[in-house]
Formats: sequence, structure tokens, C-alpha cells
Amino acid sequence: MKILMVCLGNICRSPLAEGIMKTKVPENFFVDSAGTISMHEGKHPDKRAIKTAENHNIDISKQRSRPITNADFKNFDKIYCMDIDVFEDVISKTENEQQRQKVSLFMEVLGDHENAEVPDPYWGGMDDFENVFQLLEKGCNKIAEQVLQ
Ligand code: 4NP
Repeated sequence: MKILMVCLGNICRSPLAEGIMKTKVPENFFVDSAGTISMHEGKHPDKRAIKTAENHNIDISKQRSRPITNADFKNFDKIYCMDIDVFEDVISKTENEQQRQKVSLFMEVLGDHENAEVPDPYWGGMDDFENVFQLLEKGCNKIAEQVLQ
């Protein structure tokens, strides 16, 4: 099972989602993350994301941002998008129904359609990053339940 977490810049939300998800599944699972923009390509996660993960004993400091590629739609089984803009952008890059079926909104695993977005903490403070961490942790627990069934 290969799981891809996707946000806009791949420096805040999806690196945290990748780090958290890796703690929930066995080592034969492959978990990665990507962004819809390449602006931060090659950069490590935002310092505040690294610190937030570290507060929960998770090391995301070695991750590097990369944009999503066409190959990802073939290689990954599940692609989770952090917000609606990201979801729409990712869907627009799919080439067929089989690829489209792999893509979903991360928050939908919580059955939460009203509040279906993981808010972008980039312009916020550490509290916003911690809030994102809590949402991601809840979602990752649900995803783990689903994929480990
Ligand atoms: P992310 O956060 O999508 O969670 O990685 C952002 C990172 C960068 C920007 C916006 C959001 N940016 O505008 O550069």
C-alpha cells in the first residue's frame, strides 16, 4: 500500500501528514508527500512544522519538498488532499477514472464534509500548526484503521 499526502507547498501540512502517517502503519507501507506547486522544491519543511512534529516525538526534518508528478498517479494507491483547491488541482492532473478514484479529501475520512479542509497554517502561528497536527492525527488514525483492515 502506497499513500501520498498532498498540500500546496509541501512544507507545512503534507510533511506533517506524512510524518504522522508513518507512525501508524507497518514498514512495508510506503508513505510520501508532495505539493501542487514547485515553489519550495528541495526545501526542508517549514521550521514551525518541524518543531510541532518534534513536540510529538516525530522527526520530519529530513523531508524535502517536491511537486506531485504524473508518475504519482500510477505509483500510489491513495492520494489524500489537504484542501479543496488542492483536491481540484490534483484531480485536474489525473488522466483517467482509475487515477481519479485514488484521490480524496483528507478530512473526508473523518466523515466531516462541513469542515473538509485542513486549514493552511502557513500565515499563522504555532497554535495553528498544533491545531493542524491534531486534525492530521485524527485523520491518520482513521486512514490506518481503513488500510489495515
Ligand atoms: P502547505 O503550506 O501547503 O501546507 O505546505 C503552504 C506553504 C507555502 C505557501 C502556502 C502554503 N506559499 O504560499 O508559499
